[in-house]
Amino acid sequence: MKTKTIKDLKFETLLPKELIKKRVNEIALQLDALHIGSEPPLMICVMNGAFIFTADLVRAMQVKVLLGFIRASSYRGTTSSGNLELSGIEKLNIEGKNIVIVEDIIDTGATLEAIIEQLQKRNPLQLHIVSLLQKPHAPKFENTIVGFEIDDRFVVGYGLDYDGLGRDIDEIMVVK
Ligand code: IMP
Ligand code: MG
Repeated sequence: MKTKTIKDLKFETLLPKELIKKRVNEIALQLDALHIGSEPPLMICVMNGAFIFTADLVRAMQVKVLLGFIRASSYRGTTSSGNLELSGIEKLNIEGKNIVIVEDIIDTGATLEAIIEQLQKRNPLQLHIVSLLQKPHAPKFENTIVGFEIDDRFVVGYGLDYDGLGRDIDEIMVVK
C-alpha cells in the first residue's frame, strides 16, 4: 500500500490502479451495449476531475464516440464551497443526441443536478451518466452507472485533486 503526503494531509491507497482498470473495462462494455447500432454518443467530460477517467473510458470502448468538455468547480480544499460554476455547455450540440455525462465523483449531487438540468433543457435523445465514484449521501440519479461506492472520506488521484494537487496519481487514495 502506497502512502503520500499532499500539503497538510496524508493519503493511503483505496483503489489500486489494476482494480480501477478492471472496472473501467466493465463500464466500457456496458456503454458499448447501450450505444451499439445507434449514433455515436457524445461523451461529456466534466473537467477537471474526470479527465483521466474519460480518457481511459473512451479508449476502452469499442463504439465510436464524440467528445465534449465542460467545466464545473465548487471545491476549495476538502469541502464543497457551495458556489457552483459551470461553463462550456452552451458550446455543445445536445439536441437529439445520445449524451453520456462522465463525472469523477458524486458527493452531494449538486454538480450533477445542475448539469442535468441544463442539458435536459436542450432536448437530448438519451441521457446517461457515468461516475467513477459515489459517496454514501449522494441522491440516486436515473440511468447512472457508478464505478465504486466509497465511504464519506476525502479522496485524491486518478484526476481528483486536493487544492489542485494529486490529479496525476495513478490510483485513488483516501485521507488517513
Ligand atoms: P457534488 O456537487 O457535491 O456532488 O461534488 C462533486 C464534485 O466535487 C466532484 O466532481 C469533485 O470534483 C468534487 N469532489 C467531491 N468529493 C471529492 C473528494 O473526495 N475528493 C476530490 N474532489 C471531490
Ligand atoms: Mg468534478
